[in-house]
Amino acid sequence: MEAIKRTADQEMKIPVSEPERQYYFIERAKVDLERLKKEAGRPLTFCVTTFGCQMNARDSEKLVGILEKIGYIEETDEEKADFVIYNTCTVRENANQRVYGRLGQLGRIKKKNPHMMIALCGCMMQEPEVVEKLKKSYGFIDLIFGTHNIYKFAELLATRMESGRMVIDIWKDTDKIVEDLPSERKYSFKSGVNIMFGCNNFCSYCIVPYVRGRERSRDPRAIIREIERLVADGVVEVMLLGQNVNSYGKTLDSPMTFAQLLREIEKIDGLRRIRFMTSHPKDLSDELIQVMGESEKICKHLHLPVQSGSSRILEKMNRRYTKEHYLELVEKIRAAVPDISLTTDIIVGFPGETEEDFQETLDVVRKVRYDSAFTFIYSKRTGTPAAVMGNQVPEEIVKDRFNRLLSEVQQISAEMCAVHEGTVQTALVESVNEHDNKLVTGRLSNNLLVHFPGDASMIGQFIDVRLRECRGFYYIGEQV
Ligand code: SAH
Ligand code: SF4
Ligand code: F3S
Repeated sequence: MEAIKRTADQEMKIPVSEPERQYYFIERAKVDLERLKKEAGRPLTFCVTTFGCQMNARDSEKLVGILEKIGYIEETDEEKADFVIYNTCTVRENANQRVYGRLGQLGRIKKKNPHMMIALCGCMMQEPEVVEKLKKSYGFIDLIFGTHNIYKFAELLATRMESGRMVIDIWKDTDKIVEDLPSERKYSFKSGVNIMFGCNNFCSYCIVPYVRGRERSRDPRAIIREIERLVADGVVEVMLLGQNVNSYGKTLDSPMTFAQLLREIEKIDGLRRIRFMTSHPKDLSDELIQVMGESEKICKHLHLPVQSGSSRILEKMNRRYTKEHYLELVEKIRAAVPDISLTTDIIVGFPGETEEDFQETLDVVRKVRYDSAFTFIYSKRTGTPAAVMGNQVPEEIVKDRFNRLLSEVQQISAEMCAVHEGTVQTALVESVNEHDNKLVTGRLSNNLLVHFPGDASMIGQFIDVRLRECRGFYYIGEQV
C-alpha cells in the first residue's frame, strides 16, 4: 500500500476539539478507502471480533459505527474480510492464548490478500509485554491501539491508510470521556449504555483496573440523552454498563448515586426494561434495593459477584465484604424483590485457598441458591498483588474443586429454573432460534431464555408466554 502525504494545508484544517476531530477523520478515511477500493476493484469489507465482557461488546459497536460511516461493508466470516479487528480481553490468561492462536492463522490469510489489514485493540493492548511480543513476532499487524483512545479509531485508521506503516498508539490512562461518536447497534430493540468507565477497586487478582484505568462516571445528562435517542430509534431495553455500577456518580462534579440515576432513567417514556451490570456487593446500598423494589422497569435480575464464600479469602482478594455481609445483602434483596433472580461470579483456586475455604464457597452457593453462576479457575495476572502471593494452589486440586463447584451450581440452577415452570411471563423476543427456524428466542425479566413457536416478525416485541417445560437453564414455551 502506497503512502500519501498530508499537506500543510490539510493539517491546518484538522479540528482540535472532539468529537469534531473524529468526524473530520471519518471524512478523510472515506477518501482513503475510495482509493483502496479502486486499487482492489471491489468494495472492501470488515469483521470485528469481540473477546471479553459487555463493555468490550459495546466498544465494538462503536468501532462498527465508525467503519460503516467510512464505507466499509460488514463481513461476518473473518477469513473473507479485508479488515479484521480483534477487540481483546485479558482478564484470564486463556483469553490471551486464544488471540495469539487466531493471529497466527490470520497472518497466513493476509499473505494471500494484499488488501487485507489487521487491527488489535482492547484490554490486552494495555499490557506493554503484549505489545512488545506483537511487534516482535507478529509484524504483519497494521494497527494497535488501547482502551483509552478507542474514540480516535477514525484518526488512527486514516493515519495507517495514509502512511502505509504499522501504527501503534496506547495511552496509559485518561480522564477523558468523548460523547456523541457514531455507533452501530447489534440489536435494533436493545442496547448497552456505558454509565462509567474504569475501576478503582483493585481486587487483588484482577487486571481490569490496570487496563481500563481509573473510574470515571459519565455525566447523567449525557446518559439520559443517549437513552432518549435510543428509545426514539426503537430501543425498549437498556443494559447500563460499568465495572461497579453501584459506585456510579461519586466522582462527578455534582455527585449523584446510582439509585438516583435509575430513578431518572425510569422516567423515560417508551423505555420498558432496565438492566445493569456489574454490582459490587460492598457498594450495594439500601437506597438501590428500595428503588429496585419500587421500579416498574428494572428487571428482576441482579448479578452480584461473590468470588468466594470464605471471609478469609475475601479479605485477601481485597473485596471489602465478608461472607456474613454478603448473605445479609441477599436476604435484604429477596425481601424487597421476592421473585428476583440472582446470579454470580465465583473464582476457585485463589492463592492460599484451603478445602475449608472452598467449603465456605459451597455453603454460600447452597444458601443463596443462584439462578446461575459463572465459575472461573483463578488465573495469575502479572502485575496484580495476587500473582506474587505464596501458596498458589496446585492445578489438580483446583480442577477437582472446580468440578465439584460446577456440579453443585448446575444442580441448583436447574432446580431454580424449574420453579417457574407452568407460569406465564412476558418475553422480549430477541431472535429466530439458531437451530430451529420455527422457534423464536425471548428473554424474560429474570434474564432466562424461552424458546417458543414464532417468526422473525416478533423480534423486538413483548409477548406473553407460558413456560411449558424447563430444560435446565432455559424454557420451551408457547404464546398465550
Ligand atoms: N467488575 C466485575 C467483574 C469483571 S471481570 C465485578 O467486580 O464483579 C469478570 C469476572 O472475571 C470477575 O467477576 C471474576 O470472577 C473473574 N476474574 C477476574 N479476574 C480473574 C482472574 N485473575 N482469574 C480468574 N477469574 C477472574
Ligand atoms: Fe476487577 Fe474487582 Fe474492579 Fe471487578 S471490581 S473489575 S473484579 S478490580
Ligand atoms: Fe476482559 Fe477488559 Fe472486559 S479484560 S472482561 S474485556 S474489561
